[in-house]
Amino acid sequence: MKHIPVLIREVLKFLPVDPDGITLDMTGGGGGHSAAMLKEISVKGRLIILDRDPEAVVRLKERFQEHANVTVVQSNFSEFDEALDSLGISTVSSVLADFGVSLFHLKSAERGFSFRNDGPLDMRMNPADRLTAQEVVNSYSRETLANLIRKYGEEDFAWNIATAIVAARAIKKIDTTLQLAEIIASAIPRKAQKPGISPATKTFQALRIYVNGELDAIEKMLGKLEARIDKGGRAAFISFHSLEDRLVKDYFKEFEKECVCPPGFPVCVCGKARTFRQITRKPITAKDDELEMNPLSRSAKMRVAERV
Ligand SMILES: C[S@@+](CC[C@H](N)C(=O)[O-])C[C@H]1O[C@@H](n2cnc3c(N)ncnc32)[C@H](O)[C@@H]1O
Repeated sequence: MKHIPVLIREVLKFLPVDPDGITLDMTGGGGGHSAAMLKEISVKGRLIILDRDPEAVVRLKERFQEHANVTVVQSNFSEFDEALDSLGISTVSSVLADFGVSLFHLKSAERGFSFRNDGPLDMRMNPADRLTAQEVVNSYSRETLANLIRKYGEEDFAWNIATAIVAARAIKKIDTTLQLAEIIASAIPRKAQKPGISPATKTFQALRIYVNGELDAIEKMLGKLEARIDKGGRAAFISFHSLEDRLVKDYFKEFEKECVCPPGFPVCVCGKARTFRQITRKPITAKDDELEMNPLSRSAKMRVAERV
């Protein structure tokens, strides 16, 4: 199994790696982006790779074991500053994060991410975390379930799905991914289901985001970015759904703002200065040849900003 890295040409073009600098890949996954960036890094440069998933970390350590200038660390990118501190690094020259799950997650039934392969309802990217999707589905109230399915899945039938979950679990505990996928399918009217797209897609996305605190992690990381990136250095973020992309977009807008004092203030009291400039106004998306080769790239959107 191989996870195909998305937007690889565009990453190399818009996130030029400083050969002698320190590059940080916050989401190592299968190591595809890391390997491509490593080709540009000299023996004096370094590549730091993070992943919160211990299985990914094992794979990444194996893949890059022969490269003395590569360091792989198991860490949530929400704590990337602590990971850098532990390596004695204050700032880096390039940062990449390719959000979400990898093909390894989706194809490993036992990790519980897939609505196609039956497995335990787990969905934790780091199996040492406490909360599983199974606990959420079997113990949360109908209102809470509906809210989180609506918020993180942008699912119009969230209330119907939450109602069906609560009714089903009163008869039998919901333990597996296919059991849940069937319950979801039964709650969405046939004519609202789209051909070729599983009716469970949005609810599984919502549970995954919630269980892993994915949006909180992105927010925390973005909030700490400015202090840990060299002036002139760049950060690129690849999102796979609108919630992630909106967060990055809003943060980039905030980063670009100068003084935010109310108009008419004689002197600036807020002290806000511009910290980044956006490299492209619109997000970068996959070209036709990539879409043909890797249909999973269709929802990828990359935004890049430069520290000023
Ligand atoms: C889309 S994959 C990255 C694929 C990678 N760019 C490649 O070329 O193979 C996302 C990876 O990020 C990891 N991940 C997701 N959220 C994370 C977080 N908050 N902190 C660290 N790693 C995270 C996942 O475990 C997964 O391995």
